[in-house]
Amino acid sequence: MPDFVSATTPDPRGAIFIDPTAYVDQEAWHAIARELRAEAPVLRVEAEGYTPFWAVTRFEDVFAVSRHNDQFLNTRNSVLGPDLQFEMLGAMGIEPKTLIHMDGEEHREHRNVANAWFRPRAVSQRQAAIDAIADQFVGKFRDLGGRCDFAQDIAVPYTLRVIMSIFGVPEQDEPTMLRLTQGLFGAADPEYMGDLNDPFAMITKTIAEFEDYFNELAAERRGHPADDLATVIANAEIGGCPMDRHATLWYFTIVATAGHDTTSFALSGGLEALLRHPGQVAKLQGDPDLVTNAAEEMIRWTSPVRHFLRYLTEPATLSGVEIPAGDRLLLSYPSANRDERVFEDPTSFDVTRHNANRTIAFGGGEHFCLGSTFARREIRTLLPKLLAAVDDFGLDGEPEFAQANFVGGVKHLPVVATLR
Ligand code: HEM
Repeated sequence: MPDFVSATTPDPRGAIFIDPTAYVDQEAWHAIARELRAEAPVLRVEAEGYTPFWAVTRFEDVFAVSRHNDQFLNTRNSVLGPDLQFEMLGAMGIEPKTLIHMDGEEHREHRNVANAWFRPRAVSQRQAAIDAIADQFVGKFRDLGGRCDFAQDIAVPYTLRVIMSIFGVPEQDEPTMLRLTQGLFGAADPEYMGDLNDPFAMITKTIAEFEDYFNELAAERRGHPADDLATVIANAEIGGCPMDRHATLWYFTIVATAGHDTTSFALSGGLEALLRHPGQVAKLQGDPDLVTNAAEEMIRWTSPVRHFLRYLTEPATLSGVEIPAGDRLLLSYPSANRDERVFEDPTSFDVTRHNANRTIAFGGGEHFCLGSTFARREIRTLLPKLLAAVDDFGLDGEPEFAQANFVGGVKHLPVVATLR
């Protein structure tokens, strides 16, 4: 087992942001986050092997930082990991360079490459295709007799197929995309580590495999353009020149990974919450129009992206704490989404919550999630179809959470339903 940081200074509670196993016990994690919001909403965290950071846990602060991209930059390491890991990735020439790692004009130009594919109109034009994929998976749920691991049998393959259908990755390669996504986002989870016993080895092996796969896909789409996102990325130009190889690889990678792992966790963890909170399924079945709000509440509740980092260009004060220029902030989306200053009774899951759509799970400002419209539509499409197919619906065992401090959630969800 890898040796994760389980204690930090000056306050040991800072470990919940680093240790991937801390996220497994959600109740304990949220209890500490609640204390931090009350007592130390901007907490300096120092841990061996990590450049210190400030953990930002209140909604208002996460929102303000996200909105001011000129003052709080993304560039450099935007995801928390051991310093050595990033130094080694840099030395190997494979450090991440996605939209998340860019700022200003460079970011705008790169975001424009795929933006049109994610606009609400473009997404709504794909509604029939999403409906067909959702029907296929409700059919699978029926074939399984209403008893399955909802996370692995339905949520993961459904969200994967939706994004791969616009991406242009053929269905037979979906298992490869899934394995590689888990290798990148689930590198610290023993279930996905295979023979390797170290997350870094898992990450480098995964990046190399992604590179091989996407180089081939890009070459194919340059020779034979198709009406898909892979063609758009493979042939993209930045400032009149082809997008560089490194940025192209990471563009493919972010779409292939962020495009499903996040949404599947929102679905599996959201369904877990629906089933655990009495009366919620019946409410939705009784009023299908509630599905839009229910999807927002599922996204607020699960917050599958656990953090991103920002870097201060000038000194700033957040919740009364002065932070010097050059320091970095960790924006804790799961904590901000349970902030009692914004969400009344935040630890209860309520599909009728009046302000569920204030969720900050998709971030904000220039980097606001590119795929949020897809994610929302995928949940809104599957959920009513699923609920229309069942009478009694409940848990069939204990859910299991992924060990991950970046993107994570319920990875196994045993459920049982009486089919209609
Ligand atoms: C429930 C599902 C999802 C959640 C919770 C989520 C969350 C996030 C968050 C927190 C950010 C960073 C925002 C910021 O820094 O302010 C982000 C960015 C991004 N997301 Fe999502 N995401 C989800 C689904 C998707 C989907 C379906 C895609 C499709 C490809 C996607 C693609 C991206 C991309 C490309 C970025 C980078 C945007 C940029 O830096 O300009 N995400 N997402």
